[in-house]
Amino acid sequence: MTRVAILPSAEAAAVTVATCIADALQVDPELVIGLPTGQTPIPMYRALVELHRQGRADFGRATTFNLDEFVGLAPGDLGSYHAYMRAHLFDAINLAPERMHLFNGKRKDWRREIARFDAALSALGGLTIAVVGIGRNGHIGFNEPAPALATASHRVRLTEASRRANAAAFGGRWRRVPTHALSMGIGSILRARTVLLLATGAHKAAIVARALHGPITTRVPASLLQAHPNVLVVLDRAAAGKLPMSERRLSRGSTMKS
Ligand code: GLP
Repeated sequence: MTRVAILPSAEAAAVTVATCIADALQVDPELVIGLPTGQTPIPMYRALVELHRQGRADFGRATTFNLDEFVGLAPGDLGSYHAYMRAHLFDAINLAPERMHLFNGKRKDWRREIARFDAALSALGGLTIAVVGIGRNGHIGFNEPAPALATASHRVRLTEASRRANAAAFGGRWRRVPTHALSMGIGSILRARTVLLLATGAHKAAIVARALHGPITTRVPASLLQAHPNVLVVLDRAAAGKLPMSERRLSRGSTMKS
């Protein structure tokens, strides 16, 4: 079942997702959370840090798994998702480093690296909550559109669209964006008990509509979420702009079955 929440602004959508995570942490302090990167989650992490400061989000017993990392970048590299996570979340919350799981993109033996990551994830029984964004081509994490998708973590060649979308962290020069990434597999994301998808901005409206209402196809990886039993899609008005009018009317500011 997919529920859709349409909020009046990107900020309100971000706060909604952060609040869902904080609430879930209160119910289950040992939450295992899948975390996204990109521009969209930045206000969501800001809201989560604020909730933590207010004592409403305790990460002391939680564990996180980041969805992806660029191949060739060390955790200290500025363009890495390690650096992103430190800047936007990790440095401001009480999550112990051994509970933060990210791929090390610099490790030569990437097969061992993804095996290490997947073993840690299965040892904890998989994700409780997967917080995901959506690429303009429908990717989740870096599960790029393809005839078939890997269920487990894997190395992926990035599409030009995805490299362009990540150019900001590389001085705006998309050719500097690494050509490959390591990504959590779509199977690990779909096995999460709950999936929270956050999308904001008019540039996401078309792909959000395709993911929610188009055919389920690996050509739009996010469309696979239609088959998941517990998905909450949190949108601002702009990202909801191409959903059917009936859905936009009914779900504004609240949630509904899709
Ligand atoms: C990035 C990340 C994804 C993210 C997506 C959307 O490249 N690998 O995890 O959800 O693309 O990013 P943005 O929020 O910047 O549009």
